[in-house]
Amino acid sequence: MTENPTPLVPDDAELARLEALAVDVAAEAARFVVDRRAVELEVTTKSSDVDIVTVMDSRSQELIARRLREARPQDAFFGEEDAAAPEAPSDSGPGEGRLTWVVDPIDGTVNYLYGYPQYAVSVALVEGDPTVPGRWRPIVGAVADAVAGVVHHARLGGGAHTRRADGTETGLAVSEATDLATSLVATGFGYDAAKRRRQALALAEIVSHIRDIRRGGSAALDLCHVAAGRVDGYYEMGINPWDMAAGWLVVTEAGGTLTGAQGEPPSTDCVIAAGPGVYAELAALVDGVVDIVREGTPRA
Ligand code: IPD
Repeated sequence: MTENPTPLVPDDAELARLEALAVDVAAEAARFVVDRRAVELEVTTKSSDVDIVTVMDSRSQELIARRLREARPQDAFFGEEDAAAPEAPSDSGPGEGRLTWVVDPIDGTVNYLYGYPQYAVSVALVEGDPTVPGRWRPIVGAVADAVAGVVHHARLGGGAHTRRADGTETGLAVSEATDLATSLVATGFGYDAAKRRRQALALAEIVSHIRDIRRGGSAALDLCHVAAGRVDGYYEMGINPWDMAAGWLVVTEAGGTLTGAQGEPPSTDCVIAAGPGVYAELAALVDGVVDIVREGTPRA
């Protein structure tokens, strides 16, 4: 972070309660979207013909917002589907001096449309203003892998864990890889066709320096795969705060590093995440190609 926001972080006992709340709400919304998929798969488009929103994105966000408002009326709320709305109520919006819930009601919406089993509900509590890069950080995060029925979660200083449907917990740790040439790296693409072409050109520069690439279709799950050591690293140019907020904390609490390009804080411009053994090499590689993607923005 470039500057520390006003410190608002609750003590560990309260953080643990907030983590449990995030896990429960993410798990409930994930069950809801899976259960309703067969009957309510109505689709409209957002920024382009391939940038879709399903009726279940809105329903899932409504459910999450209601649950969080009941439990924590004092907090702000910032969801993916709000960002698409022309006006969010100013008294409930994010800002410094308050904690904000940052929510992606379905991350991996295209996968959800197709029934490709990689979509998630992401719920994070952040301090600072999540709309300003470098001025916020997650303090609690939960990513519910909807089809797998598990929730990856973390709180500041509490480690990262996966809760299974039977209630058992497993600790998460990033991979011990030390060689980028034999590392498996995840990435993703945006919805703007011109930008996606630039992302592919950047990827063409990267792919010969690594073992292979994975494109799962959910940035939140990609980050959790880094946290679990199922991939060695991840980078993407163009993800939003709601895609990254919870997964960011899951990665760092699992021992990984997450930044933007060229030493900047993570932002819509770029996110790079990896274990300590390959982070520096991956970051140097991504730093070298990020301008290919930046050229001729739009960045989102
Ligand atoms: C998308 C997914 C995808 C990533 C895109 C995101 P959405 O989020 O996380 O993996 O590559 O950049 O926009 O639209 O499914 O919530």
